[in-house]
Amino acid sequence: MGAPPNTALVVRAPEGQSPTLVKEELPLPSPGQGQVQVKVSHVAQNPTDVQSFDANAFGDGVVLGCDFVGEVTELGSGVTRLAKGDVVAGLIWGGEVAGLGGYSQYSIADQNVSFKVPASISREQASTVPLAAATAWLALFSKDCLSLDRSKASGTSVLVWGGSSSVGLYTIQLASICGFEVITTCSPRNADLVKSCGANHVFDYSDETVIAKINAVAPNLQYVFDTIGNTTSSSFASTAFADRMGNLCTVRPGKANTEQVTGNTNVTDVLVWTAFLKDHHYGPFHWPASPEDHALASELFEKLPRWLDQGTLKPNHPKVLSGLDSVAQGFQEYRGGNVSAYKIVYAV
Ligand SMILES: NC(=O)c1ccc[n+]([C@@H]2O[C@H](COP(=O)([O-])OP(=O)(O)OC[C@H]3O[C@@H](n4cnc5c(N)ncnc54)[C@H](OP(=O)(O)O)[C@@H]3O)[C@@H](O)[C@H]2O)c1
Repeated sequence: MGAPPNTALVVRAPEGQSPTLVKEELPLPSPGQGQVQVKVSHVAQNPTDVQSFDANAFGDGVVLGCDFVGEVTELGSGVTRLAKGDVVAGLIWGGEVAGLGGYSQYSIADQNVSFKVPASISREQASTVPLAAATAWLALFSKDCLSLDRSKASGTSVLVWGGSSSVGLYTIQLASICGFEVITTCSPRNADLVKSCGANHVFDYSDETVIAKINAVAPNLQYVFDTIGNTTSSSFASTAFADRMGNLCTVRPGKANTEQVTGNTNVTDVLVWTAFLKDHHYGPFHWPASPEDHALASELFEKLPRWLDQGTLKPNHPKVLSGLDSVAQGFQEYRGGNVSAYKIVYAV
């Protein structure tokens, strides 16, 4: 019996031409040490997919997509956490390694950065978790980000700028599970949702008095996670420190758009790929392998099945589109700026 087909959505970007997405047959990926091969049933869309595609960041022949769910079909050496037939949700930097990504019938999951999907949540829901939740967790607790002390959570406030984004919704929940007080901003239509995720105080980011309102409820604020990272969000959010020293982590790798933060703001950035124990290069940037971030991410992925099963952590709302042929449409929906408190997911 021959190998099953592996249809993938490949970025084709011939010299001097705009990139396009083309369905092609690729060889089945082989799992390495600590990895498993997964037959993908669902893949969730992240902003980075569209940003990488539009910027032709990885060049011709790559497969994008970072969050996927499916059945384990083959085990690499040294795999102890997963077994064949398990339904897992995995994280991969789609595009970094040629031919490997989520928009594909088969992909590769690292056992330390994937989790067994509990039967109580759907595969669609599970696919929204890995990238956004890992970003939130690292931003809160990595020593290179906000480095919050979990043993001193009580009485410590965290401002999550952009609480209704995918990353924001998981940040609110994870900070709240760990006992921190959470203040957040979003559009009024999403206020009830972010409150149901554990936010203690919710404000409209377009309200002119939003900073005064944050100061009133968190006069000693020292920590901000900007989950938006647009041209104004970090500088505006940093004014919530008033005249105190504060720590702001931006979701923009390379600390883009933080030039105008207040002088008493210490800026860090999060890069979810430090979850893997691997060096990463992108343009002028280099992120060395971080054993600490890898251990932290691994701790999160070990905790996720129980939290999700118990309902302690609620997955983002998936908006399901059918098949890899819908990806161009999903990318367009993101570019239109309409994604709000939901995640686009494709049934492969
Ligand atoms: N560094 C990393 O490793 C990393 C990892 C993951 C994501 N990211 C980046 O993080 C960003 C967020 O990703 P995501 O998937 O969470 O995005 P998303 O869910 O697509 O974000 C949409 C949300 O952004 C909110 N929003 C838009 N403008 C805002 C503003 N000015 N202030 C506050 N909220 C605003 C909207 O809130 P309302 O609808 O309530 O208005 C909407 O719910 C993206 O730029 C992504 O590339 C980086």
